[in-house]
Amino acid sequence: MSKSKLFLTKPLAQLLNESSESGGLKRSLTALNLTTLGIGAIIGAGIFVLTGQAAAQYAGPGIVLSFIISGLACGFAGLCYAEFASMIPIAGSAYTYAYATLGEFLAWIIGWDLILEYLFAASTVAVGWSGYVVSFLKDLHIFIPPQFTGAVGSVLVNVPDMGWKPLTHAFAETLAAAGIQVETLQHVTCVINLPAMFIVFLLTSLLVIGIRESANFNNVMVITKVSVIILFIALGFMFVKSANWHPFIPANKVEVTPISHYGSFWGWLQAYGHEFGKFGISGVLRGAGVIFFAYIGFDAVSTAAQEAKNPQRDMPIGILGSLGVSTVLYILVAIVLTGIVSYTALNVADPVAVGVDAMGKGMFWLRPIVKIAAIAGLSSVILVMLMGQPRIFFTMSKDGLLPPVFSKVHPKFKTPYVSTIITGSVAMVIAGILPISILGELVSIGTLLAFIIVCISVLVLRKSRPDLERPFRTPGLPYVPILGAVICFIQMIALPVDTWLRLIIWMAIGFFIYFFYGVKHSKIRKNNI
Ligand code: ALA
Repeated sequence: MSKSKLFLTKPLAQLLNESSESGGLKRSLTALNLTTLGIGAIIGAGIFVLTGQAAAQYAGPGIVLSFIISGLACGFAGLCYAEFASMIPIAGSAYTYAYATLGEFLAWIIGWDLILEYLFAASTVAVGWSGYVVSFLKDLHIFIPPQFTGAVGSVLVNVPDMGWKPLTHAFAETLAAAGIQVETLQHVTCVINLPAMFIVFLLTSLLVIGIRESANFNNVMVITKVSVIILFIALGFMFVKSANWHPFIPANKVEVTPISHYGSFWGWLQAYGHEFGKFGISGVLRGAGVIFFAYIGFDAVSTAAQEAKNPQRDMPIGILGSLGVSTVLYILVAIVLTGIVSYTALNVADPVAVGVDAMGKGMFWLRPIVKIAAIAGLSSVILVMLMGQPRIFFTMSKDGLLPPVFSKVHPKFKTPYVSTIITGSVAMVIAGILPISILGELVSIGTLLAFIIVCISVLVLRKSRPDLERPFRTPGLPYVPILGAVICFIQMIALPVDTWLRLIIWMAIGFFIYFFYGVKHSKIRKNNI
């Protein structure tokens, strides 16, 4: 196979032509719908689960700075997405942008990589949803048998006053420190996570029925979660004890661990006696890497390009508007949360609820409301992720890199129903059997790779086709895309070696499919014989 064919780019004239059509999809989304879709995809497990853990373990109140750093990196990438999404408004998102600039092979890589972002994010957040729903139902005295609420083979223990909790190594140590012998507690081994599968099934069905119906459901979820977050911020400010913010960046812990324990690039830095990521400046940086997950999703707006009424104008509004609103809310939640409760108490699955508890007995009514907001928030994240993935498959199939069945549009509902059902079924199985930790890191590494390629693509296309009409132009070239790519790369290397290995294996599977299917069926190749 000639090298040049691997790097064939899709002609821009053809792409622009395709973008003026909807490909059978229904154009019904306004700028406001796109912005709420973005907020729907962004605000979820990151703020409701990870913030507290990142503050308690890595950054302390400095988590506020972590949110600013990560928000800045996403802002750079978001500006690059906005340029492409307004110029080539096609459902394939980063996959299409790479096809236009870097060639088919890299486009395939990014398309395959995006599965890690969208499909796996849907499963990850479904597992988080399951945790919140089980706990909410327990408050209502409705009990789901614990063996049906966790990843296959995971062990849960019944802790007095806490209920069923996953038995991790760290949790066993915490129990031991509290004088509780794990062996004395009741155990179960999970067979499947049924609530996680249920929510994926429900939202997949909604997505098959229609984009407008899905957008309406998303609007309700977004209004719920954003109102409760604003309520939490407004009330929380009244309970802040400024002593909780001191020290704002707790001193770095110096703990030299044996070299054999080093699991990541950063581990090597520990050889110098500096515990990278355990508070101090490095802790703020590690916190930024962890809460990056909270920002994932703004790019999902670009997959709705062919269903937008006026994509050239509204894509940048949807992408940057949703990112801006979420960033402001995140920073305020981080300020309030670390102000009302000591960061050391936040290493829990429901840190915002812990914040409410710290406001005192008079505020107990807010607790169930926060749980409902979290459930609504996670539902909309799953929905938009399950919406984005089939649209990328749809575009890849139109290009011949996936079988034609992936671009079938339902005659009545006008949705890519086959790819929606395939995505939903796979996401359902993954959510039912895998644990949240493995899934979450895969989502982050996959998304970071996509952001880097989009940032580089903006630079490539500005150089190769400066003449093209760009309804939105990324400002500050070349610095903004370069900084975006560099910060994302730094965040990638901060992830554990195991996650890198999983990424490499995933990509190897992708290469195999490309060389056995894509190469033979690619439409561009056929036209270039
Ligand atoms: N940003 C999304 C969340 O935090 C993926 O749940």
